[in-house]
Amino acid sequence: MSDPRTNDPRMNTFRSRLPGVVYGGDYNPEQWPREVWQEDVRLMRAAGVRLVSLGVFSWAMLEPADGEFDFSWLDEIMDLLWANGIHVNLATPNAAPPPWLATDFPEILSMDRQGVRHGIGSRGHFCPSSPAYRDRSRRIATKLAERYGSHPALAMWHIGNEYHSDCFCDLCDDRFREWLRQRYGTLDELNHRWGTEFWSQRYGDWSQVHLPRPVRGWVNPTRELDFSRFTSDLLLELVTQERDLLHQITPDVPATTNFFGCRLTDSHRWAKELDVVAFDCYPDPGKPHSMSVAAFQYDLMRTLRGGQPWLLMEQAAGAVSQWKTNQVKQPGRMRLGSYQAVAHGSDAVMFFQWRASRQGQEKFHSAMLPHGGEKTRTWQEVKALGNELRAIDEIATARTSAQAAIVWDWQNWWAVEGCAHPDNAFDYRDTVARHYRALWNSQVAVDVVTLDDDLSPYRVLVIPNQYLMTRQHSAAVHRFVEDGGHLVVSYFSGIVDEDDRIVEGGYPGALREVIGAHVQEFSPLPAEATVPVRAAAEQTALTGFLATASLWQDDLETETARPLAVYRKGHLAGKAAVVEHELGQGRAVYVGTRLDDDALKALVRHVLDRAGVRPVHAAPRGVEVTERRTDTNVYLFLLNHRQDKATVTLDRSGTDLITGCRLEAGQTLVLDAADVAVVRCPLSASQHAEPSSSDS
Ligand code: GAL
Repeated sequence: MSDPRTNDPRMNTFRSRLPGVVYGGDYNPEQWPREVWQEDVRLMRAAGVRLVSLGVFSWAMLEPADGEFDFSWLDEIMDLLWANGIHVNLATPNAAPPPWLATDFPEILSMDRQGVRHGIGSRGHFCPSSPAYRDRSRRIATKLAERYGSHPALAMWHIGNEYHSDCFCDLCDDRFREWLRQRYGTLDELNHRWGTEFWSQRYGDWSQVHLPRPVRGWVNPTRELDFSRFTSDLLLELVTQERDLLHQITPDVPATTNFFGCRLTDSHRWAKELDVVAFDCYPDPGKPHSMSVAAFQYDLMRTLRGGQPWLLMEQAAGAVSQWKTNQVKQPGRMRLGSYQAVAHGSDAVMFFQWRASRQGQEKFHSAMLPHGGEKTRTWQEVKALGNELRAIDEIATARTSAQAAIVWDWQNWWAVEGCAHPDNAFDYRDTVARHYRALWNSQVAVDVVTLDDDLSPYRVLVIPNQYLMTRQHSAAVHRFVEDGGHLVVSYFSGIVDEDDRIVEGGYPGALREVIGAHVQEFSPLPAEATVPVRAAAEQTALTGFLATASLWQDDLETETARPLAVYRKGHLAGKAAVVEHELGQGRAVYVGTRLDDDALKALVRHVLDRAGVRPVHAAPRGVEVTERRTDTNVYLFLLNHRQDKATVTLDRSGTDLITGCRLEAGQTLVLDAADVAVVRCPLSASQHAEPSSSDS
């Protein structure tokens, strides 16, 4: 089966080998004797495992000394897996350089900001600029590609692992200067962009320009911002170099790397360089909002490559071991979380790792096969899920179409959490999570975009704290509203350009015309302080609107906008907390404070309603609903995250793929706590041609 919607021969080859929803996980057989391997493949088959990520941290076992290779064990395990019908997502092992490499070439070790070299004995300790590291990484990747390129088990390349290593050594310092020369051309331009007139920072020679190593006080924020951009580009260069050599030797095999939401890697840029997006997700069962955060991350992964299905490359079968307290996934919750990923566009459910380690740093991390073996609850659930997923195989390649989008932008993440702001406790992730939650609880489909993306498919756009906005961003938002879009934008947005320079003309300079108001002053609130907010007197659409403001207040002056909600107390009592502005065919709502969750949801719901963006399906709070569609069917996912039963009255007829039951419109479906339904609803002939906003 090929993917009719992508013209991507590599992924089509992958799908023809592994049709349906791919099940599996990281497999680290080098930890175990041969007899365990036999048991592994037997149990993998029992659980429906079809793909394993192999060799992710195997460098030392494959190359015990410089240029001395031992592929015998990998030959054996590749053959054994293939003999059992299991495909391999073969890793290039660069995430954990072996001890000999660090001993022979000490400069391959990364250096922290304080100038301390990392030691060996863990992982991720490489300097991305080191020629020896680069050379030896490429060499082993080449050897693997040449040796296994035509092995029938090879289905995909897994380049490195969760890239996240920044480095402050002299080699990186040189590269940083070179990167800046490429970006700015002249030192004058750099001085201008960084605003070096202030505090006597003006550079007179390139040799004076360095990585932002520790300074006394605050470092120049544009220099720090450029360091983040540089690090993302530098790490991406490692990935693209390996990708190119792998593609050259194995042109039919897709190559990816696994994202994990890292601050250092701008996944919007990275995703364009990969054949498919892969993501590792570890929602914390101990945190109340972790499932909506996971949903956000999944929507982001789906949007990164224009709505193409992505792969959940890692998740935990139970507890992880790296946090302070590692709570387990309670019965049914691993299954629920797995379906959630598929509901948001994943065509794979994979885990870290297959068999629980008996030694080493992660021996208490859960695995598909726990230390306790086949009798354990986790194994029973893992095995049952792997077999159950076959019932929804036809979902693979189905797309999601969203009329609402939220902005998430790495460049802004780096800038908005910069230094010396009115509030220096900004948590961009938390801010976006709150805004996303308002959409999630409204049960609408959401894409996660940047302001560089095409915004025309969306009716509603939510922009949380987009402090950094380029001229193009500003124009794009203006156009979006003028053309009939409905915008919700929150405080401390549109403040600086890409150089972290204030956009002048009254805050928010980049958005003032769009919101029809300006901010006289930022007025952050003390940590625990709150201010009550109510609907503006003349406002009818939000009658009864009551909210609690915290963290931040804008002292807002309306121009052509009108107030939607006002502060009831404090020094801004009577002034606007939320304003609304009509512009062209559309409207912008500007929120000048942090509203409590329920109020933000009510506001977002109001905007969605006015824009005509309806929930995917009516459902009680705590039941997540999503859709994926092919040319012939809509697949409705109903996911009960609650601790109790929930009922949903179906608005359409279809077949529950998991139970095989026929369901009629108007029928009440009862979902137990943590239960899931995937309902296939055939599209009538007239609906077949309905365009999907995610199709490019
Ligand atoms: C991931 C990593 C895996 C494993 C896992 C534990 O970030 O890629 O190798 O360490 O975390 O949760």
